[in-house]
Amino acid sequence: MSLKQISSLPVMVVFLLGSSLLSAETEQVPLSERAVLGEGKFAVCKACHDDTLNPPQAPPMFGVQRRYKQQFESQQEFVDAIVKFVTLPTESKALMKGPVKKLGLMPGLPLGDDMLSEIATYIYEENFEPPCEHWAQAMSSEKGKGKGKHRQHVQSMYEEFCQ
Ligand code: HEC
Repeated sequence: MSLKQISSLPVMVVFLLGSSLLSAETEQVPLSERAVLGEGKFAVCKACHDDTLNPPQAPPMFGVQRRYKQQFESQQEFVDAIVKFVTLPTESKALMKGPVKKLGLMPGLPLGDDMLSEIATYIYEENFEPPCEHWAQAMSSEKGKGKGKHRQHVQSMYEEFCQ
């Protein structure tokens, strides 16, 4: 091995180590440009869709994303449905009957299709943390209520994502 090769060895090692660490950290696909724009505007939604609020003002986005992904096969359908719902919420459009019953229908936010579709793209792409605190709180506050639907839902989500 020439001197030149030996001296470049540590550089190689650092490079390889560094890139493997990086790939472990960035396993989550980075947000698209459009989703980054939506993330910047998400504060409008976070005013209510904030898992740390107690009592809750809106269902956690983790659950909203999950429900909409169950319902719609493509990203386009997912985004369109959210844009339509948020512009003018109605009971018949609502997929989350439990939250509608508990909190009332969300107020309409007619912010324009473009802005709402950026936000909806963000909601589609983001890897939301499971709201374990929110579920734990709901489990204890609904303890006496037997086998309520929400309690059952919360308990099974908690068991699946937080234990
Ligand atoms: C004033 C509080 C408030 C704000 C602000 C708010 N939401 Fe909501 N949102 C709610 C409540 C309450 C519900 C549950 C009742 C319902 O589904 O209408 C809800 C439910 C939803 C749902 C599920 C609807 C369904 O199918 O039942 C979506 C999607 C949603 N919000 C998106 C958004 C987006 C996107 C924003 C920001 C642009 C936003 N929300 C801002 C209160 C809010």
